[in-house]
Amino acid sequence: MALSSYFEPTPGGDTAFTVDPPKIKFGIGALAEIGADARSLGLKRVALFCDPRVAKLAPLTTARRALADAGIDVAVYDAIEVEPTDRSFKAAADFALDGKFDGFVSLGGGSTIDTAKAANLYSTYPADLLAYVNAPVGEARPIPGPLKPHIACPTTFGTASECTGIAIFDLVEQELKTGIAHRNLRPALGVLDPSNMATLPANVIAANGFDVFTHAIESLTARPYTKREAPKDPAGRPLYQGANPYSDIACMEAIRLIGRNLVGGVKSPGDVAFCEPLMFAGMLAGIGFGNAGCHVPHAMSYAVAGLVRDYRAEGWPSNHPMVPHGISVIVNAPAVFRFTGPACPDRHLKAAEAMGADVRDAPLDKAGEILADRIIAMMKETGIPNGLGGVGYSEDDLPQLIEKANAQQRLLVNSPKPVGRAELGPLFRDAMRYW
Ligand SMILES: NC(=O)c1ccc[n+]([C@@H]2O[C@H](COP(=O)([O-])OP(=O)(O)OC[C@H]3O[C@@H](n4cnc5c(N)ncnc54)[C@H](O)[C@@H]3O)[C@@H](O)[C@H]2O)c1
Ligand SMILES: [Fe+2]
Repeated sequence: MALSSYFEPTPGGDTAFTVDPPKIKFGIGALAEIGADARSLGLKRVALFCDPRVAKLAPLTTARRALADAGIDVAVYDAIEVEPTDRSFKAAADFALDGKFDGFVSLGGGSTIDTAKAANLYSTYPADLLAYVNAPVGEARPIPGPLKPHIACPTTFGTASECTGIAIFDLVEQELKTGIAHRNLRPALGVLDPSNMATLPANVIAANGFDVFTHAIESLTARPYTKREAPKDPAGRPLYQGANPYSDIACMEAIRLIGRNLVGGVKSPGDVAFCEPLMFAGMLAGIGFGNAGCHVPHAMSYAVAGLVRDYRAEGWPSNHPMVPHGISVIVNAPAVFRFTGPACPDRHLKAAEAMGADVRDAPLDKAGEILADRIIAMMKETGIPNGLGGVGYSEDDLPQLIEKANAQQRLLVNSPKPVGRAELGPLFRDAMRYW
């Protein structure tokens, strides 16, 4: 392909990619407009979802006032679990079923937005929780039709849940993080107001920033869409298509913005000069990974988050031990990029440069190492734990970690180099400690 040699046609490989961008409003003051947004979606009675901490913050007052001024009846639901579980998804669905709402507004991080998505789904098309959950854990039943309008207003910037048709939760009994993925889950509108981030603690900014970075770099280095088998029926083209020229643009810019603003944002929480570019980076990476898909660091993260024993992160008040999502991903990333570097060295090197590494005279065969070194330096600067050992794991945990990560085939197939049990062992071992 003339746009990039990464997308050379391959025999039997796909020859087209699709673009289905999310509907977004971005800017300081955007939250105060959600009353008008809700009215234009025809809403009269909404459930407003937020977590107990966000319930006490200024954006909740802004959101309530905006909805009330537009004549919309609002019921607040704040029993969100941070890093939600099957039980908190079910409780939210019960609330939604009882309330007979005609729409949803979520104000919070990925935990809150994902919970609102689940409440919307299970109150609109009631079913057993596992019915719509990804296979092999659940039945992966397709969502039967459109959901009610959902306006998602992030107060964090990492997950891009407002851009995606994904809702993630902990299935507590099986020690597993899993989710529901379907385009109908995607909110009708994402409203990104960077002033919502004013109270975000430094550790949450660091974890979110690395979630953004990994969404972007995994999409950029994903297997190209031309190497994925062409679907027999065009309708069967997957949501995660692999790297493509459209996602490349969004991802490169997201990486550049993270490279320039993450350390400053962590050192000066609440400074709008950092909040705005970081939130924009999160949105761009969301558009990129929503179209291309993540790969190995995210696949490994589900094992790291699911098997947690007693790790509790500073800055996250939670009723259960947990490894916050951005941390559970970035602890794997340096090990993975050392491994994937040879598959597309120029992409690894471009990303390292965008993150601030000096790549003058850098040999291409060291691209993965150079990117890993730059990530490790930024992890140190922003207070991220030192690899898997830093969040409570040791080599004794390798068999379980490998097993759980290997189950994430939806993500692993998107890797630029084949990854199975044999590769996951050395990757987890390399991720135990970086300094
Ligand atoms: N749906 C998706 O596409 C997707 C993608 C990646 C991750 N996720 C999921 O999203 C969840 C993580 O979401 P997250 O990182 O956005 O954070 P979060 O929603 O888990 O919140 C993290 C902490 O920050 C607090 N907080 C949020 N906004 C705040 C603010 N403005 N000021 C002060 N405190 C604030 C919360 O109360 C909480 O204690 C995980 O469950 C993860 O698996 C979803
Ligand atoms: Fe993520």
